[in-house]
Amino acid sequence: MKPAEFKRRRSQLMKMMGKNTIAILPSASEIIRNRDAHFPFRQDSDFLYLTGFNEPDAVMVLMPGRKHGEYILFCREKDPEQETWNGRRAGQEGAIETYGADDSFPIDDIDDILPGLLEGTDSIFNVMGRYPDFDKRLIGWVSHIKEQSRAGLHFPSEFVSLDYILHDMRLYKSREELRLMRKAAAINVRAHKRALKLCAPGKYEYQLAAEFDHEYRTHNAHHAYPAIVGGGANGCILHYTENTDELNDGDLLLIDAGCEVEGYASDITRTFPINGKYSKAQREVYDLVLAAHQAAVKKVKPGNHWNDPHNAAVRVITRGLVELKLLKGSITKLIRERAYRKFYMHRTGHWLGLDVHDVGDYKVGDQWRLLEPGMVMTIEPGIYIPARSRGVHRKWWDIGIRIEDDVLVTSKGYEILTDALPRKATEIEALMAS
Ligand code: GLY
Ligand code: MN
Ligand code: MN
Repeated sequence: MKPAEFKRRRSQLMKMMGKNTIAILPSASEIIRNRDAHFPFRQDSDFLYLTGFNEPDAVMVLMPGRKHGEYILFCREKDPEQETWNGRRAGQEGAIETYGADDSFPIDDIDDILPGLLEGTDSIFNVMGRYPDFDKRLIGWVSHIKEQSRAGLHFPSEFVSLDYILHDMRLYKSREELRLMRKAAAINVRAHKRALKLCAPGKYEYQLAAEFDHEYRTHNAHHAYPAIVGGGANGCILHYTENTDELNDGDLLLIDAGCEVEGYASDITRTFPINGKYSKAQREVYDLVLAAHQAAVKKVKPGNHWNDPHNAAVRVITRGLVELKLLKGSITKLIRERAYRKFYMHRTGHWLGLDVHDVGDYKVGDQWRLLEPGMVMTIEPGIYIPARSRGVHRKWWDIGIRIEDDVLVTSKGYEILTDALPRKATEIEALMAS
């Protein structure tokens, strides 16, 4: 992503903040995994969105209209010895030259400098609650100026939610963001195809999971969330991530995996027969989930509201479950009573972007949000029938199916970013046989 895109975002945010305001946003921190080892570093998505700066121990400050520069980045100083051990740092020079900061200071000097920046502002835009230790320091800095108000210092009198403006901006994807999301989708499609082709009875879930590690890293992408590779009964556990079991002939395999490219996620689920051919019962449920998926995708268009795709999926699934005799009664009543939730207990999708469950309100006031071009969401209906479900014939046991794609709202309707991965049962069988 080019520096100009980050600059455009900061300018847009500052325009909305108004005069005499300051935005303060810390980066993510490194997290210890065990003893001296850290988890791989992942930048805070809001911080990444506004700065493109991928180091820990940094704080972004925006001050609309400040004469000596509106964008200040506190970050680690260059330190040859530390860098020899732990990797390169941009330092203050890099913050300015590479990342477009107007001014940059060592993070260790923040206690001395930030109170002076707060002085004279009316409002502080921040993400209160996300980083409690940082919140305490911020309150300390404000108190420090407040104590000097008798000496004539003007202190900020309100905290404003930065999330509120920022998350609305993040909901509408720019051309550059869509380029990265398309790239993540394409890499993910390749990875899912690899797994489909390599799947066979006797292999283990982790062996197929390894195909995703390989394909993602080969293209410099990372997992956007822990992959779910669940054979048989494991496909009915929504967040199954152990991925330890052997794959059995006759069972289904549900894979929900996604990668991120420069932070932008893809999120795909496919469910396919381990031996390459759906059984009659599996196929009946599969085709029902696929019909729900198609009905939901058709509802993705500007002017429809967020919940329209979900309502369409629920209607198709409820009707289908009645036809398969998994539910009994009037469809309207079953929907009203949410009887489908016995087999379909999650929603049909979520926003997708820098976070796999991306930010952005689903309701405005008490109304579902209207869909608009540039929004990206998943469509992911499913049906899950664990063994020994009450009153359920055993031919359905351990069938867990989800079909998930990433869908962009366009001016005319929708575009499925992950459309290159087969979805129809016959197409999946053909790919597995190839
Ligand atoms: N993989 C997380 C989800 O599908 O929502
Ligand atoms: Mn999803
Ligand atoms: Mn998913």
